Amino acid sequence: MKKTMFFALGMVAMLCGCSTNTSAPRNTIDQEEVMAKLSLEDKAHFVIGVGMAGFSGDDAVIGATKNLVPGAAGTTYPLDSLGIPAVVLADGPAGLRIDAKREGDSATYYCTHFPIGTLLASTWNTKLVEEVGQAIGEEVKEYGADVLLAPALNIMRNPLCGRNFEYYSEDPVVAGKTAAAYITGVQKNDVGTSIKHFAANNQETNRMNTDAHISQRALREIYLKGFEIAIKEAKPWTVMTSYNYINGVYTSESKDLVTTILRDEWGYEGTVMTDWFGGKDGAKQMWAGNDMLQPGKNEQFDSIVAGVRSGKLAEADLDLCVKRVLNLVERSPRYQGYKFSNKPDLKAHAAVTRQSAAEGMVLMKNGQMTTDNGQSAAPVLPFGENIKNVALYGCTSYDFIAGGTGSGNVNHAYVVSLLDGLKNGGYTVSDELKTAYEQYITEAKEAKKKAIEEMAKKDKQAAMLASFLPGSLPAEKQFTADELAAQASVADVAIITIGRISGEFLDRKSSDFNLSPSERQLVEQVCDVYHKAGKQVVVLLNIGGVIETASWKELPDAILCAWQAGQEGGNSVVDVLSGKQSPSGKFTMTWPVNFTDAYSSKNFPIDQEVKIDMMNQGQKGNVKNVDYTDYEEDIYVGYRYFDSFEVPVSYPFGFGLSYTTFEYSDAKIVQKNDIYDVTVTVKNTGKYEGKEVVELYISAPDNKTANKPTKELKAFAKTKLLKPGENETLTLSVTAPELASFDEAASAWVVAEGEYQFLIGASSQDIKATLTAPAKSFQTKANDVMKPQEQMKLLKRGS
Ligand code: BGC
Repeated sequence: MKKTMFFALGMVAMLCGCSTNTSAPRNTIDQEEVMAKLSLEDKAHFVIGVGMAGFSGDDAVIGATKNLVPGAAGTTYPLDSLGIPAVVLADGPAGLRIDAKREGDSATYYCTHFPIGTLLASTWNTKLVEEVGQAIGEEVKEYGADVLLAPALNIMRNPLCGRNFEYYSEDPVVAGKTAAAYITGVQKNDVGTSIKHFAANNQETNRMNTDAHISQRALREIYLKGFEIAIKEAKPWTVMTSYNYINGVYTSESKDLVTTILRDEWGYEGTVMTDWFGGKDGAKQMWAGNDMLQPGKNEQFDSIVAGVRSGKLAEADLDLCVKRVLNLVERSPRYQGYKFSNKPDLKAHAAVTRQSAAEGMVLMKNGQMTTDNGQSAAPVLPFGENIKNVALYGCTSYDFIAGGTGSGNVNHAYVVSLLDGLKNGGYTVSDELKTAYEQYITEAKEAKKKAIEEMAKKDKQAAMLASFLPGSLPAEKQFTADELAAQASVADVAIITIGRISGEFLDRKSSDFNLSPSERQLVEQVCDVYHKAGKQVVVLLNIGGVIETASWKELPDAILCAWQAGQEGGNSVVDVLSGKQSPSGKFTMTWPVNFTDAYSSKNFPIDQEVKIDMMNQGQKGNVKNVDYTDYEEDIYVGYRYFDSFEVPVSYPFGFGLSYTTFEYSDAKIVQKNDIYDVTVTVKNTGKYEGKEVVELYISAPDNKTANKPTKELKAFAKTKLLKPGENETLTLSVTAPELASFDEAASAWVVAEGEYQFLIGASSQDIKATLTAPAKSFQTKANDVMKPQEQMKLLKRGS
């Protein structure tokens, strides 16, 4: 790669050119003047990142930019002599990911680890998600970054996708609305976001070279819809294309995706960047409208320069990309001369993460235990006055998992374990168990550390990768029946935490979905012994993705899905267990009985061992579900499948209990022009305060005959905190165009004429009221692009 002449002039000139406070006039870039001064090589440099040390780029440029914010994922390319600074791009969804410590500096740069995306979506509270986004954005700005590489909203197509924890839902409306709220919150700080991974990054196995074969209809209705909603509503500064191919074309090389759909149809005006080392052909990526290639490879630089010289790439296309990157730089805090403090309000943000995490936890069961002498105890949650001593089982109770691994991780200062959360909440925790577990966990961690050190002696890169990957959690510690009986005799209740960790590069294995033998044994034995002693058992799930529950959910008295709840996790859980906060989260995905029940499991890389290709050096092969995946379930993803084909589930989409109960009444629909306003009154009929999520599904008149799902979510709302006896009337609106399905033959969104059902539900399988209203037929034309190149046996209703 050629060294740019601009770089030599240093960073100083650039920094002096900027004003230093936000009230100063906005700095603008004179694009025509800049463009006139750029050579072809300068332009090619500018549209790719600075590279990555040891992999690509120019060491001098990397050296000069890497310390802008150490640990950030990358920067744009600086053009110093023109006063165009490198702006800083940093992950990620659960909080800013930068290095917490810097060489020769005693200060620390910890960031708040907020709850994972799945938990945020499970709140169904867009106002709250916006507040979390705003807090994350403040850390981005005050630590001197310019663009946050988040949110991540790929559809949860299959329960085993390794990055589902970063994602929001199997449903595009939930995903899109949650992402829009997050983006709005972050960008309130005048920093940018990068909605990712556009699109269909639904598996991690061979992620850089896998080809997602998807019908045009499923693309439009499922895989692009969430992006469309979020991008139109919240205007993210940037969009990050995904690693994979769709129907034979890399997303970052697809003009159909990046220009025709994103810009021409949706009106997107921001900047598009690749995922790290995503795509291959630099010239083609420029032609497609993928403005910036991160962190940039030497071959991409060469391909752009050669492309323009040979006429394969029009210089005007390259110029457009350059200008869009200039737009990004112009609006960045760095270009605007913002003087960041390196002192975000971490204390305030700890309170934000604690409260938001509690709101996204899902109460799955809160049963009444019948004791051996036939007496029925009250539901175990919330803990009453009688519960003071807690026996805590499961390794993760003592070593709580704040979030997933990889770029979705955050360098946090601490994680409140369940043990500490209980102590903070005034509970007494068995010291005997604490000592036994802590020793067990320390030994397991030491063994893992040693194994990586050994590996590093033989293969440095493999060791680096291993420390980045989730790794496996230790097997659960076992106890004899006598030990358990002794523990039960002094405890008021038992809690067992089941933990899971996953992260990018790898999909989860089927063994990760199912309980391990040691987990099953622990659950069975603790429930057995404690029930015999007349004591109740709570199972807590500290997980990032769906696990198997059908075979054991009858055993404990209560189950709470705490997700991976960020750095205040233990405190948030105890806020829920103690009743300080009533749980009001609901599932944004279906919990199947077996993961193979999801139709997508027929076409998913289950338990496939594939070598990780970090630098995108591999080529497209021909192994089913590794090199290509046929999305044969078509639009029948998640509840759209389970409900339409009447396949039993363990927990349905939209499900979640509360400590209190709610009654729905006065459901009405008012249709004015193109808008259907559905109102419903929700009353708290129980003994505790609580919030209720209300879901609005539609069922099209021709759903049986025209191959449409029985129901599709179109809107949702959440009540305020209702006191016992209090009620609130919620309004949920749907527009007529939102009733449309995508018709491939007409290449259009088509609303079928007839009576639509509007289903008001507490979950997808708990419909409280059904209303009807008519719609007239109409069409909105779309471009006939991104067609699959192969024939697929698509699932259809009636087939
Ligand atoms: C991930 C992205 C992330 C990027 C930069 C990639 O491996 O897929 O989500 O933003 O790295 O860290």
